[in-house]
Amino acid sequence: MEKNKENLPWVEKYRPETLDEVYGQSEIVDTVRKFVQEGKLPHLLFYGPPGTGKTSTIIALAREIYGPKYKNMVLELNASDDRGIDVVRNQIKDFASTMQIFSKGFKLIILDEADAMTSVAQNALRRIIEKYTKNTRFCILANYSHKLNPALVSRCTRFRFQPIHTDAIRERLKNVVIKEKITIKPDAIESLLTLSQGDMRRALNVLQSCKASLDNPDDEIDEEMIYNCIGAPQPKDVETVLDSILKDDWTTAYLTMDKFKRVKGLALIDLLEGFVGILNKYELDKQTKIKILKGLSEVEYGISKGGNDKINSSAIIGVIKDAFESQVVEV
Ligand SMILES: Nc1ncnc2c1ncn2[C@@H]1O[C@H](COP(=O)(O)OP(=O)(O)OP(=O)(O)O)[C@@H](O)[C@H]1O
Ligand SMILES: [Mg+2]
Repeated sequence: MEKNKENLPWVEKYRPETLDEVYGQSEIVDTVRKFVQEGKLPHLLFYGPPGTGKTSTIIALAREIYGPKYKNMVLELNASDDRGIDVVRNQIKDFASTMQIFSKGFKLIILDEADAMTSVAQNALRRIIEKYTKNTRFCILANYSHKLNPALVSRCTRFRFQPIHTDAIRERLKNVVIKEKITIKPDAIESLLTLSQGDMRRALNVLQSCKASLDNPDDEIDEEMIYNCIGAPQPKDVETVLDSILKDDWTTAYLTMDKFKRVKGLALIDLLEGFVGILNKYELDKQTKIKILKGLSEVEYGISKGGNDKINSSAIIGVIKDAFESQVVEV
């Protein structure tokens, strides 16, 4: 590892340098590599959830095509910058029309966060793409393909980046754990993998903040620290609150929930997600399950719209109690 990389956040320090270091996206990597080897690189669209390697893959690809001085041949634009399409158009024009330093055929223009562009800008972009196709290739990066203009999408070969498989993240973390001399309990790694939900950036960030929060760098990272760093409720806390909703009277259940929210700093939305996770594992008859999920999804919508926390807390208790009143649980 180069010396100047030592102080970087781990997401940058461990950003893949080559396509071989992109974990868990081998089909995509193989296909784009083949395009390059055959000299038939089309315009590309990479889309999918955050932290799955879209930016990393295109940069690694550029390095593979152009070598270490790839920056001369690549223009990186952040499409969500508040600068308007005219600025983007001019930058692309300048870049595409300057002399090519290496005669590698084409230059690469990376448009990050293209789904944040207005539809007017996206419309303008499809003309630009057509105009410069002779000596440039575009790679459009986005989280959601449905926010992109279909005409724009149809000019590209599409690749969907899936949430990275747990095994691939585990492999990557194993390397980092060795390089950073971390001691971490196996169940803490497993929780980290579950909570990261296929987002490698998140996994690395949480691991780094856990390591930074140790009193002594040699201490062991445990499951509780992972939950605390992510700000997710511990499974046992979620179970305690749910248990109280199911078994205690309304007031006691409300007070228990309130206590956990205050003392443990839990957000109602996280508790709710935890309840759904647990209730999904119960063997309930279909009607009860539908009733609970429907009720809780309405509360979830209410919370996301900034509804009153107390009312939503009561609503959660109401939904669960109501659904269970006519139901015998077979756990
Ligand atoms: N497939 C992967 N293999 C190895 N590391 C990865 C992978 N995906 C993400 N990472 C790590 O996470 C960091 C962020 O990844 P990257 O910028 O490629 O994500 P992204 O898909 O472009 O996300 P966003 O949609 O938020 O832009 C990288 O610096 C790298 O450390
Ligand atoms: Mg990105």
